[in-house]
Amino acid sequence: MVEFVQGAYILAALLFILALAGLSKHETARRGNQFGMAGMGLALVATLLLVLDYLGTDYIDQGPVVVGLVIILVAGTVGAVIGLRLAKRVEMTGMPELIAMMHSFVGLAAVLVGYNTWIEVADFAGEADGIHNAEVFIGVFIGAVTFTGSIVANLKLSAKMKSAPMTLPGRHLLNLAILVLSAILLVWFMNADGWSGIAPLGIMTVLALVLGFHLVAAIGGGDMPVVVSMLNSYSGWAAAAAGFMLGNDLLIIVGALVGSSGAILSYIMCKAMNRSFVSVIAGGFGSDGGPAEDRDYGEHREIQADDVAALLADASSVVITPGYGMAVAQAQYPVAEMTRKLRAKGVDVRFGIHPVAGRLPGHMNVLLAEAKVPYDIVLEMDEINDDLPDVDVVLVIGANDTVNPAALEEPNSPIAGMPVIEVWKAKDVIVFKRSMATGYAGVQNPLFFKENTQMLFGDAKDKVNEIVAALG
Ligand code: TAP
Repeated sequence: MVEFVQGAYILAALLFILALAGLSKHETARRGNQFGMAGMGLALVATLLLVLDYLGTDYIDQGPVVVGLVIILVAGTVGAVIGLRLAKRVEMTGMPELIAMMHSFVGLAAVLVGYNTWIEVADFAGEADGIHNAEVFIGVFIGAVTFTGSIVANLKLSAKMKSAPMTLPGRHLLNLAILVLSAILLVWFMNADGWSGIAPLGIMTVLALVLGFHLVAAIGGGDMPVVVSMLNSYSGWAAAAAGFMLGNDLLIIVGALVGSSGAILSYIMCKAMNRSFVSVIAGGFGSDGGPAEDRDYGEHREIQADDVAALLADASSVVITPGYGMAVAQAQYPVAEMTRKLRAKGVDVRFGIHPVAGRLPGHMNVLLAEAKVPYDIVLEMDEINDDLPDVDVVLVIGANDTVNPAALEEPNSPIAGMPVIEVWKAKDVIVFKRSMATGYAGVQNPLFFKENTQMLFGDAKDKVNEIVAALG
């Protein structure tokens, strides 16, 4: 049986690698997900078989095996029911906060596994086993940081906690002090016999929980995407650490896959947002300066849907830059319809997608693909920015931070340095939104007050539908 389970684990690991490969492109993403589901199903069945194998053997006490089996089945069923309900209910826009919450579970699981395996050894052996203790300590540390960090990310993403960065004086020193203290506690723990290790382990757990909270609380809302992918990576390392503690090869492999792919994604996102990778890991890489909210940007101008339709019909090239508001309004279908009509009239229509538009990586691409917008007219920010001075009309549909010139022009802005789609360089810019409210980062947008910008107020879906109707 053990050989069979090992074989199943290797197959599951291969399926997870195929899942990652599939998820790297739109066209193969669905297949990638299916590989992942098959791998996880196989891993669960194989693990259950491993426990079943102990049943009926006389060298192991049967009581705990039966209890373990019942716990696995009950917990698995409850977890599956909750997971199914959540997955069915969650809106696409709520996905990042759900993911952040799931990362917190992985972190908590690593902490519990750590304590559990340590209690077993402390209880039965009584003597210090340095290597095992180091595995436990590191696993609990990463798990605890991931746990509180992910909870803060969840609260910030769901707007239950202020998205502004919490910048305590000497915050980097505080983080460093926790790391140094934890290293000292590790040495103490590795040399502690039996139950005496509870003191260094307990103190470190509290410190790591504080560190996770502080690292993520110090990061502003606009930079949250990088943090979520960083926490994704941490949760992978926490799972790998749990794998070492339990001697489970599959958990080690899967943890390492999640840890490294999360780290690569974070690196790509850091590059896209012009943030330094090291400072993300150190926490609090947002600007310390407050937004220049008091500045008088002047008056904004308004336009109506009919006039936008006329402007579009006269244009020869149009670029659409969608953002979070398009997702909220579910405006992608009328946007696709408007695109078809304009293209039929001979207008060159393209889309410019910012790497962090919306609330999750690839958010806009998924919505546009759903509405059957052809892939070849959906371009990345870098591919569209140079062409914008030659574009007649840019439609900013529910985007705000990702088209904010303050990122380039105001060094004290919390989004300073983040590359943006430079829509203001086009001849005319139309901004679709419901009010003059700020975007996710809470920063005023000088674009709205530029001479070539006009605001089309209202729900994006309604307004695009009005334009579609006016286009005839
Ligand atoms: P945001 O800056 O979030 O702005 C969205 C705009 O849409 C708001 O100004 C809002 O204005 C408008 N809006 C909301 N509902 C609307 C509706 N029904 N109809 C029309 N407009 C509507 O959008 P963005 O430019 O996509 O930027 C994304 C932000 O989220 C960035 O700061 C990014 O860092 C952050 N973030 C991104 C991710 C990823 S990975 N993509 C994850 C977490 C956070 P009104 O309220 O006035 O309508």
